[in-house]
Amino acid sequence: MSIIEVNSLTKGYRVHKKKAGIKGSLSGLIKREYQYVEAVKNVSFQVEEGEILGIVGQNGAGKTTTMKMLSGLLYPDAGEARILNWIPWERKKEFLTNISFLMGQKGQLLWDIPAMDSFFLYKEIYDLKEESFRQTIKELSKMLEVEHLLSVPVRNLSLGERMKMEIIAAVLHSPKLLFLDEPTIGLDLTTQKKMRSFLNIQNHRNGTTMVLTSHYMKDITSLCSRIIIISQGEIIFDDKIEKIRHMYQADRVVNVRFAKMVDEAFLKKYHESIKEKKELQYTFQVKQEDVNEFVREISLLMPVDFSIGEQPIEDIIEKIYRRDIE
Ligand SMILES: Nc1ncnc2c1ncn2[C@@H]1O[C@H](COP(=O)(O)OP(=O)(O)O)[C@@H](O)[C@H]1O
Ligand SMILES: [Mg+2]
Repeated sequence: MSIIEVNSLTKGYRVHKKKAGIKGSLSGLIKREYQYVEAVKNVSFQVEEGEILGIVGQNGAGKTTTMKMLSGLLYPDAGEARILNWIPWERKKEFLTNISFLMGQKGQLLWDIPAMDSFFLYKEIYDLKEESFRQTIKELSKMLEVEHLLSVPVRNLSLGERMKMEIIAAVLHSPKLLFLDEPTIGLDLTTQKKMRSFLNIQNHRNGTTMVLTSHYMKDITSLCSRIIIISQGEIIFDDKIEKIRHMYQADRVVNVRFAKMVDEAFLKKYHESIKEKKELQYTFQVKQEDVNEFVREISLLMPVDFSIGEQPIEDIIEKIYRRDIE
């Protein structure tokens, strides 16, 4: 059963058009001119129960606007969305108790009080049972290694510690659906990894459905089975991640280790395909259909060790953005 059903969702913003210079700002005071920015255009997709969907796209592509509509924070201009049978922007209580929205840039927790005090507040709001509430806090804070920080005012926590508290707050009421808008932004690698494994556990154990945006491709590849690529407000790709390689003629990465120093003149022909070199170790990017011929030619030059790998998924996605914009 689809838990999210989105149909031709569209949203624009009216923004104040600024003319250049001081004269511009003066005339702006007298007669305001507006410009319409189409942030999300005709977006349609579904999400199945238990799925983790990644939404990727460049800055300004419309990811946050989409998430805000789906979590009921914004009204669309046109289109429909149904989440667990509710219309998000009606913001019915049952809807709100079944979802959670975590934004990496904007915390929910009160700044001046310890996270634990905010958790108590959530306990009242969501009407959670004392015992299971305590059990959940204990378990989640242990998992994220923040048990000793529960009574520290949030303002005194590091960004990573704060985000861990934010995620506990987000899942405290066991939402069926979790929206995560750049949840790992600015976090160090260890904390990012911890957050990812936490989310994976939530998904596996409780079957929590998630919609996630992130600029860190590692978040996407290690969490999401499926991605939507959005460019200038429109969906340009929606499928399993592994499909990308087939659809967009991904290149291969060939790592070559030469037996001795190479005379660059020999490699002239391949100059364009060299991605990296470090002493005897070269990395080439080669079209899939040319790999065999490439390896044959290179090994004619001199003895080599080589391995063939796949092009990183982020490179392919970037190629897709570029192609779309051009
Ligand atoms: N509150 C707002 N007022 C005016 N324009 C906005 C507002 N929020 C977003 N936009 C514009 O809408 C477009 C999509 O933004 P956003 O959804 O935040 O993209 P993303 O999350 O993919 O970076 C951008 O052009 C952005 O400048
Ligand atoms: Mg955004």
